[in-house]
Amino acid sequence: MNTSKLTSLANKGVIVPTLPNLDHYWLPFTANRQFKSMPRLFKAAKGNYYTTINDRSVLDGTSGLWCVAAGHCREEIASAVAHQLRTLDYAPAFQNSHPLAFEAAERLAEFLPRGLDRIFFTGSGSESADTALKIALAYQRVTGNPLRNKLIGRERGYHGVNFGGLSVGGIAGNRKAFGNGLTGVDHIRHPLDINRNAFTRGLPQDGGIELANEFEQRITTLHDPATIAALIVEPMQGSAGVVLPPVGYLKRLREICDKYGILLIFDEVITGFGRLGTRFAVDYFGVVPDIITVAKGMTNGAVPMGAVAVKREIYDAFMANSPANAIELPHGYTYTAHPIGCAATIATLDIFENEKLVERAGNLSAHFEQAAHTLKGIPFVKDVRNIGLVAGIELESFPGKLGARAFATYLKCYEMGVLVRHTGEIIAISPPLTIEKHEIDRIFSCIAEALTSLAAEGEQGLDPTRYLKNEQQWAAHQQESHQQHATLEQAA
Ligand SMILES: Cc1ncc(COP(=O)(O)O)c(C=O)c1O
Repeated sequence: MNTSKLTSLANKGVIVPTLPNLDHYWLPFTANRQFKSMPRLFKAAKGNYYTTINDRSVLDGTSGLWCVAAGHCREEIASAVAHQLRTLDYAPAFQNSHPLAFEAAERLAEFLPRGLDRIFFTGSGSESADTALKIALAYQRVTGNPLRNKLIGRERGYHGVNFGGLSVGGIAGNRKAFGNGLTGVDHIRHPLDINRNAFTRGLPQDGGIELANEFEQRITTLHDPATIAALIVEPMQGSAGVVLPPVGYLKRLREICDKYGILLIFDEVITGFGRLGTRFAVDYFGVVPDIITVAKGMTNGAVPMGAVAVKREIYDAFMANSPANAIELPHGYTYTAHPIGCAATIATLDIFENEKLVERAGNLSAHFEQAAHTLKGIPFVKDVRNIGLVAGIELESFPGKLGARAFATYLKCYEMGVLVRHTGEIIAISPPLTIEKHEIDRIFSCIAEALTSLAAEGEQGLDPTRYLKNEQQWAAHQQESHQQHATLEQAA
């Protein structure tokens, strides 16, 4: 609608909606009907805070979706992106390129663990996962092992939503609607054992080696290990509720992969870029995979972009074993190494360096752990898990209503001005690395307050329609206004 029409409507006393028509956008991983009855919209963000559409300030306890590591609306990234858009908006990704692609790859290689320094750019974490799987399969073929074509993932693993990542992923709810996925895929067990490890601070101490040994047992009894191309794991499973590897587990997986010539892929889309208080989980655990995937924090969430880094030997094998002038890897995206993504990556890496964000996260971890574990003893809390600046708070479910308690907690916290994430019956916290101690305290005290009031309210407290009255009124008003507009437009 044009401005003069809006003004004339306003002059006629119609309240002009400042918010969009909600009908057309189909939101991802969201209960659309529920959301549209109480839309939770942000209109701005700065530092560690969002501003909602109705001008409330909300502390970001989740770095957006684990991605805004350096805090919101960083001027350095905004100006690098703006400059790039005016200089070179796009260059063909196939058969041509641009200097910033090489600069971004070099800078990233310097930041990544040593040896993982050949970089393939993607547009997201899902694309990174699928790219890594394809590189693993193609590597086996190019090195004379075409029968190594099976992929192993893990229960509760999340590697994005494309068919490769979905197939090796292990979250049933994400998989079951979408058919069979890739064939030749198997999964190992996830390492969560609440009975044994509830309320452990940091990594669980026990069970790591036996659990990893199950991988060996599974591939030797169910498969011929010589048919396995790669094992993909998140060093810490984020999306399925903050599942930590017990001590020694990842190292043992590495040993088994080495023993059988299987490539090990670490999906570091969440754990990369300082989240654990080290640059990557590789640095935290001292275990180096053959391939690593990243995204999210790489551009501070400002531009969709991801990357796959491989060991130099892997890249070299493609170069050495492909015919001269042939395309060594028939794979890529229109937006591979997009100029604005590269500009955002370099600006983000500058911020990490200048502000020593990784060290900052490391220094805050002890305070964060202490604050997270104050939730022990709060109603419904059956486990608190933490590592670096990540915490998972697992709740007891209300009988027959799996996830309702975590969702109500999320809504209550949102109402109180703190953004937390809920997944199943787990609340996940992963604030920007720029978070202050008092803000960390506020996040966990807000969760405690929400759960305590849920305990007092009983089943009624789980009813989402009780929350966000402002937003609900707005949604109703929004619909009325749209109807009025439509009527007036017809009349005009
Ligand atoms: C470990 C991991 N891999 C892959 C992805 C997918 O990333 P994207 O949503 O950017 O496709 C995610 C997203 O949360 C993730 O946590």
